[in-house]
Amino acid sequence: MTYLITGGAGYIGAHVAHTMAQADERVVVLDDLSTGVRERVPEGVPLVVGSTLDRPLLDRTIAEHAVTGIVHLAAKKQVGESVAVPLRYYRENVHGLQVLLEAAVAGGVEQFVFSSSAAVYGMPDVALVTEDTPCAPMSPYGETKLAGEWLVRATGRAHGLRTACLRYFNVAGAATPQLADTGVFNLVPMVFEKLTEGSAPQIFGDDYPTPDGTCVRDYIHVADLADAHLAAARALDAGETKAGDDVTVNIGRGEGASVREMVELIAEVTGHTFTPEVAPRRPGDPPRIVASADRAAELLDWRARHDVRDMVTSAWEGWCLHHPEAAR
Ligand code: WQD
Repeated sequence: MTYLITGGAGYIGAHVAHTMAQADERVVVLDDLSTGVRERVPEGVPLVVGSTLDRPLLDRTIAEHAVTGIVHLAAKKQVGESVAVPLRYYRENVHGLQVLLEAAVAGGVEQFVFSSSAAVYGMPDVALVTEDTPCAPMSPYGETKLAGEWLVRATGRAHGLRTACLRYFNVAGAATPQLADTGVFNLVPMVFEKLTEGSAPQIFGDDYPTPDGTCVRDYIHVADLADAHLAAARALDAGETKAGDDVTVNIGRGEGASVREMVELIAEVTGHTFTPEVAPRRPGDPPRIVASADRAAELLDWRARHDVRDMVTSAWEGWCLHHPEAAR
């Protein structure tokens, strides 16, 4: 198999590219470098700079590299931004996927792994979210991921593609400091940024119906997430699923951590002492969203290996590489 990894210069995509290349899979990266970084692409892996909206480029890339599998991560991923500019999200995440699937079918690609999100579930009122929990996205971002899954599954059924949709929970950490997330859009980097500025990290709401009043999430180490992509690609390749079949799985640890627990862990790992500021709730935040990770274990033989301490420690090493003033 030769895999085209779209978004392979991004934070998560580059982890997937490194993991698959290290596992001796042939890989090619396609990335428009809008948020991706060229230096993240593993040495020896070809980088094609361009967009999934560019059909001629996709056709050429699939033909030139004899691509037989696609791992599709290229997408916009900020929930708040998706509310402000939904058309951009639908264009990049849904239309970009449609064009990519058209090229995949025309080019005889056999299997397709799609980067989906826990955002498809919205505000599930269950202790553990299974893949059968009804999907009710709360943002245009989540809608584009759910619509993307529909596109992927329908195309798989109609054209005999083997497909997998991986619903990521809250991704954190880094396999190496160089691959760390440089965006400041999620809890861990947002707390790091406050510490670096010398101001108090914020907790968005402490009056939720949870044990300590703060929101509970299922944090997953990006290295584990990357392993899940490799496991999915190999399960499809091994023919454990028939052509046209789909594997849709949660990628989480099945364990929750509250915002307050995460903030306290960050204080311990970084050695910064601070008192977090309790700010108002952020609109649209579910009180709790934690995966049932059973189906991924059963179908992909994949389980997370890293805990939240590994995530915070490795994320902090990466942060300090890019922000030397933060270290102490
Ligand atoms: C986690 C918790 C915040 C910053 C989003 C998307 C989801 C997925 C991952 C892409 C929440 C709280 C945060 C801060 C805080 N993305 N928080 N202080 O919203 O769970 O998930 O990113 O697929 O689809 O919705 O992640 O990291 O933004 O927030 O208290 O400074 O931390 O309110 O409860 P979220 P997050």
